[in-house]
Amino acid sequence: MSIVFDENKRVFKLDTEKSSYAFHITDSRNLLHLYYGGYIPETDITHMLRIPNDEPFVPAVHDAMGPHSFDCAPIEFPTSGVADFREPAMQVMDINGMSACECYYKDYRISNGKPKLKGLPATYAADDEAQTLEVFCYDPHSGLDITLMYSVFPKFDVITRSVKVENNGLAAIDLRRIISMSLDLDRMDYDMITLHGTWARERHVQRFPVRFGKQSIDSNRGATSHAHNNFFALCDHTATEDFGEAYGFALVYSGSFLGMVEVGQYEKTRALLGINPYDFSWHLEPGEDFQAPEVIMTYSGEGLGQMSRNFHDVMRNNLIRGKWKDMRRPILINNWEATYFNFDTDKLLDIAREAKKAGIEMLVMDDGWFGHRNDDRSSLGDWFVNEDKIKGGLKHLVDEVNKIGLKFGIWFEPEMISPDSKLYAEHQDWCIHIPGRHRTTVRSQLVLDFSRKEVRDYIYEQMKAILSSANIEYVKWDMNRNFSDIYSPYLPAAKQGETAHRYVLGLYHIMDELTTRFPEILFEGCSSGGNRFDLGILSYFPQIWASDNTDALCRTGIQNSYSYGYPLSVFTAHVSSCPNHQTLRITPLETRFQVASFGVLGYECNLKDLSGSDLNAIREQIAFYKKWRDVFQFGSFYRGAENEASDSETLTE
Ligand code: DGJ
Repeated sequence: MSIVFDENKRVFKLDTEKSSYAFHITDSRNLLHLYYGGYIPETDITHMLRIPNDEPFVPAVHDAMGPHSFDCAPIEFPTSGVADFREPAMQVMDINGMSACECYYKDYRISNGKPKLKGLPATYAADDEAQTLEVFCYDPHSGLDITLMYSVFPKFDVITRSVKVENNGLAAIDLRRIISMSLDLDRMDYDMITLHGTWARERHVQRFPVRFGKQSIDSNRGATSHAHNNFFALCDHTATEDFGEAYGFALVYSGSFLGMVEVGQYEKTRALLGINPYDFSWHLEPGEDFQAPEVIMTYSGEGLGQMSRNFHDVMRNNLIRGKWKDMRRPILINNWEATYFNFDTDKLLDIAREAKKAGIEMLVMDDGWFGHRNDDRSSLGDWFVNEDKIKGGLKHLVDEVNKIGLKFGIWFEPEMISPDSKLYAEHQDWCIHIPGRHRTTVRSQLVLDFSRKEVRDYIYEQMKAILSSANIEYVKWDMNRNFSDIYSPYLPAAKQGETAHRYVLGLYHIMDELTTRFPEILFEGCSSGGNRFDLGILSYFPQIWASDNTDALCRTGIQNSYSYGYPLSVFTAHVSSCPNHQTLRITPLETRFQVASFGVLGYECNLKDLSGSDLNAIREQIAFYKKWRDVFQFGSFYRGAENEASDSETLTE
């Protein structure tokens, strides 16, 4: 049993092979956190509650709480307005303008396996792989029921958390904030590790000691963002790859998020991760509920390397799904950097012939095959083959590529619409926009309102038609802008705070529909590289293009940083031409290959431009990669010890 409830001590204890997590029901029915760390056998641990009770200035909510004053107690799920002055996980607004709410224990259920989360991707488990604890709580004033859900994956030292709120009161209420996970730790001597970046410089490890006050990472861009990944870690100041305690947290979500660490006045640390409360609200009529996304947590007593491997294992085994989950990923050649928009059937077939000779297994036709798109200023939304370029049509091209002996893949950017498109001429109201205001474009494009069923259905039908028209075995799903002017004219004013999250739910819906309809296709996520590199996308697509920067030296840092939270099988890396298109750096072919093979290998250059000796070298490299592909793509990854000094930006006190 990985979950036990000690009825005498009223302690819930969740055990993995090497970690334990515990919390306690007080006499006042509050849930107080007891412990998260290395495995401990006993449940009689209420003495671990170390709550200052002689502080003159801390409010107690009621007498039964005894000395457990809210502002210094380790609260399992902190709510707003009831005398815990730290960052809350939940806040509401009721029809009387009241924002306070509480979270009292009512009941619990333990089950084998793991239930699905309504409308959201999450980890999954067979009955013998995980156990789930649901703790049913309530707010007596509003009639809200709050379910805290914990699933324990003993083998991987992983616990997942999420929360659901149900309005069982008599009046409507707005959720103003609902953060999936809050964890109160008893110390403050931690380092925080985050993965920041920007376009073409995704994922730099930043490590710094946490301080009194709040330190946060977030996105309010509608997507996870290049700027911060929705992963962070807390570890001992002395933790290395192999030694020390480390906690890792990752959100299974693809929209705006908040990750925060707050050190309060009593030198305790609170960690929170969930949907960004900025501009968020969710209206709940009586009888309605809201499901918050899942957080994956892991504890390692053996340093940061083991923390990463715990994430890698649970993602590969219990998050990524479908036919491609454990299958060797094909070595592809993508025409983007070889041709950009300037290609046609003949050029693509030339690339395919050279690629076949080198041992490459798939040709991917990138952006520019549809509508009248010859640059990035038009045609998104018009998913009709441009037969001026693709002479003879798509099926002819795919058949010819197959005859050469390669699989065929294709690029889409399904969530976008160009103002210069047939679709926009017909449906100017289908994009996210604020009526009467200027529509902000990025890369000359607007975002389709995927919260609307008819918009999603239209795009689904267009994609289905293309994907059914030829033997297409791979799709690169791109997304090249963040969200601005977030407003959906089809929602009432009181629900506008729901737009961004409704978009993400709509996105998951169409991803689910397409991957279900085309289970054989290998889907790859992309968002100008790693702008939406997260576990939400990886629940549907088993791999993501890590960065538009293909420079080998830059990629060593980018890929190494991704590895803190993500296994090598999920990030794709291409050998590109020299000098590099992003940095103009000249790097030996051997280096480019060695770096790209630490990921899912591909090529992105015109092989026809290369010398005979380079082509020979590529042939040998590919043969080598094929021999070791299982290890590169699915092996256990140990970062080198030098990594600590070379790749991270370490800020000290
Ligand atoms: C951004 C992607 O990251 C690139 O690889 C390429 O597909 C372009 N979009 C195409 O517009």
